[in-house]
Amino acid sequence: MKILVVGGGGREHAIIMKLAESPKVSKLYCAPGNGGIAKYAECYPVKATDIDGMLKLAKELEVDMVFVAPDDPLVAGMVDVMQEAGFRTFGPDKAAAIIEGSKVFSKNLMQKYNIPTAKYAVFEEPAKVLQYIEAENTYPTVIKADGLALGKGVVIAQNYDEAKAAVSEIMEDKIFGESGSQVVVEEFLTGPEVSVLCFTDGKTVKPMVSSMDHKRALDNDQGLNTGGMGTVAPNPYYTDDIAQECMNTIFMPTIRAMEAEGRTFKGCLYFGLMLTPNGPKVIEYNCRFGDPETQVVLPLLDTDFVDIIEAIEKNRLSDLDVKWKDGSAACVVMASGGYPKKYESGLVISGLDQKGQIENCFVYHAGTKTDENGQLVNAGGRVLGVTATAATLPEALKKAYDGVASINWKDMHYRKDIGQRALKALEK
Ligand code: AMP
Ligand code: GLY
Repeated sequence: MKILVVGGGGREHAIIMKLAESPKVSKLYCAPGNGGIAKYAECYPVKATDIDGMLKLAKELEVDMVFVAPDDPLVAGMVDVMQEAGFRTFGPDKAAAIIEGSKVFSKNLMQKYNIPTAKYAVFEEPAKVLQYIEAENTYPTVIKADGLALGKGVVIAQNYDEAKAAVSEIMEDKIFGESGSQVVVEEFLTGPEVSVLCFTDGKTVKPMVSSMDHKRALDNDQGLNTGGMGTVAPNPYYTDDIAQECMNTIFMPTIRAMEAEGRTFKGCLYFGLMLTPNGPKVIEYNCRFGDPETQVVLPLLDTDFVDIIEAIEKNRLSDLDVKWKDGSAACVVMASGGYPKKYESGLVISGLDQKGQIENCFVYHAGTKTDENGQLVNAGGRVLGVTATAATLPEALKKAYDGVASINWKDMHYRKDIGQRALKALEK
C-alpha cells in the first residue's frame, strides 16, 4: 500500500513511524511533512488545509490511501473529497468531524443522549452571555468559542471582568474568526484529566492506552497554555474500573449517538475526560489523534496499524484483537525559546544523527526543516517530541530526559516535570 499522510507535526511523525512498521506498507508520503518526517516519508509542500492541492497530489502519486490527521481538513471535509475521487481513507467524514468542529453540536449531543459533561448554555449575543454569567455568579467560569480555534478557544475566567474581556475578544473582536459567532459557557469542573483515544468503525470502540497531556508552558502547570509540552502513557488515574465506567457511560453512548444522528464516526475519536468527584465527564471531543498524545500511545501499539485501519474500513473492528505492549511511554517536548509567544527560527539543532534521531528514543519532529546547508533547524514553536518506552514510567522518563539532555539549540526550553503528577498518583 502507498499511503499519503496529511499533516506535518509530531503526531504525523509518530503515525508515519508506526505505519512504516507494517509489512503491508510499500511507500509513505507526507504533506506538508517536516525535516524529520522527510527522513522516513517523501514530503510534498502542500498545506494540510489545501483540499484541492491534496487531491491533485494524491492523484499524481497514485496512492492507495489518504490518512487525514489534523482537525481542520477533517472538519472541512477532506475525507469526503478523497472518497468521492475513489481513494481509501482514514479519518471521519465531514458529517462526523463536526463532533470537534462545533462545541455547540457536541454539547447538544451530550445533553440529548445523557452523556456526562459540564452543565452549559449557548449564546449568540454578547449581552446575553454577560447577563447569564452575572446571574450565575459562580467563578471560575469557562467560556468556549464554538468552532476550531487552534486549541486556544477556551477561557477560564476567574471573575466577571475576565469573563467580560473574553466575551468581547471572542464575540466582538472575533480573535478566532467565525469560530466565535457562538459561545458555550460551561460549569468549571475539577479533577485529573485523562486523554483516551479510541479506534472506532462506528459500531465498535477499541480504546487505546490512556495518556496524560501537560498543556502549560512551564513547570508546575505555570505559564501560558500551549499545544502540549509532554505526555505520559498509560495515565495512572485511569484505573480499570474507571475505564469500564467510561466505556458504558461515555464511549459507547457517544458512538451510538453519532450513528443515531446519521453521522457515523469512523477513525480515531479522542475523549478529553475529567475525573470529577461525580464521576468521569467529557471536557472535549477531538475527531482525530491527539498531539502530543499520539507520540506516547502509538509506540505502545503492538497490533499492525494497517490491520486496524482496514478493520475500521470494513466495519470489522469487533473481530480484531487490538494489542498493546506492557510498560510505559513518556514524551518530552523541546520548544523554541519564547514559545508559545514569539521565537526565533532557523537555529541549528545539535545532537541528532543522520535520520534526525538519537539512541534509545524516538525523536518525533514537530517543527524542523533541513536548511540550505543540509542541517536540521527549528522551524516552529514546538520542535521535537523526545519519546521513550520502558517497563515502568520512571524508566521511560529517565530515558526520555537523557535523550533531551543530548540535544540542543540556542534558547530551547522544555518542562522538567513531565510525568511528576503521574508518578505521585502511582505512589498512592
Ligand atoms: P480544550 O481546548 O477544550 O481542550 O480545553 C483546554 C483545557 O481547558 C482543558 O484541557 C481543561 O484543562 C480546561 N477546561 C476546559 N473545559 C473545562 C471545564 N468545563 N472545567 C474545567 N476546565 C476546563
Ligand atoms: N493534546 C490535545 C489535542 O490534541 O487537542
